[in-house]
Amino acid sequence: MTGANPQLNAQGQLRHFLTLDGLDRAQLTGILDHAEGFLSVARQPVKKVPLCRGKIIANLFFENSTRTRTTFELAAKRLSADVLNLNISTSATAKGETLLDTLRNLEAMHVDMFVVRHSDSGAAHFIARHAAPHVSVINAGDGCHAHPTQGMLDMFTIRQHKGDIAGLKVAIVGDILHSRVARSQINALNILGAAEVRVIAPRTLIPAAAGEALGVQVFHDLRAGIADCDVIIMLRLQHERMTGGFLPSEHEYFFLFGLTEKRLASAKPDAIVMHPGPINRGVEMDSEVADGPRSVILEQVSNGLAIRMAVMSTCLGSHNLSGQAPATEAAHD
Ligand code: CP
Repeated sequence: MTGANPQLNAQGQLRHFLTLDGLDRAQLTGILDHAEGFLSVARQPVKKVPLCRGKIIANLFFENSTRTRTTFELAAKRLSADVLNLNISTSATAKGETLLDTLRNLEAMHVDMFVVRHSDSGAAHFIARHAAPHVSVINAGDGCHAHPTQGMLDMFTIRQHKGDIAGLKVAIVGDILHSRVARSQINALNILGAAEVRVIAPRTLIPAAAGEALGVQVFHDLRAGIADCDVIIMLRLQHERMTGGFLPSEHEYFFLFGLTEKRLASAKPDAIVMHPGPINRGVEMDSEVADGPRSVILEQVSNGLAIRMAVMSTCLGSHNLSGQAPATEAAHD
């Protein structure tokens, strides 16, 4: 890896996509704009474009996933790449092979990209540091650290509904402390010029000094926190990352922080409700809200495909973010 930002190659183009930290507004907007062009692919009789034909993409999911794993796989197939889904539980890592040896073996098969989900923060960066020079690495969620494609698909969904991120008031509600999604969303919202980013949670589920460290307003009361907001993003309680008693009970959490139609009345009348999934109904939100007219939760999933196509094709060199279209891009216009 070379250059000031380790995600960029020597020409300043995105090679890896590990975090939104260090990327600028033009780069994020470039990815969002590139993704727009992929929405129509879903409506074509043949849902494919040839942008990554001949490339090999390996999905390495060391942690459970429904949405991210399937949309990365489908996005790679829509780009006409060949896809390897390594089943970690039945792979040689279960026989003691190290992660780096597994990677070396896949590189020997001329894999061009690793899409990595791991429970350890920093795992995708580690793989990127050790990857062969021709290989790109995409972070599909690492521990509590980052989930940059989720952050981008959420910005894409907000932009579809609100036109522009700049000037919006956005509230993120729930387990901020353990959430890689919240970190990527906060990064993206601040880079794209949101007027105010609020986090709302019990004191036990917000990092110390979050306001200054993350560039957010901190609230511990749901109604006050979502007042006049344009966008409300609900998060799951990340029990798998909790090492102690952070909450008295899920029942009490819902009583204080669960989103109901009645509480939603504090937000702007046209506020949208988002959730990265998986949803725990009756814990972070009522089904009435999750399935209601202001919910855009399933749109987030659909948009994940377009964003992941945009990120993968950019990192594989089929598109650059300076606006200069590569020769093959005309194929999907
Ligand atoms: N939003 C998200 O990362 O969901 P999965 O864990 O199902 O991939």
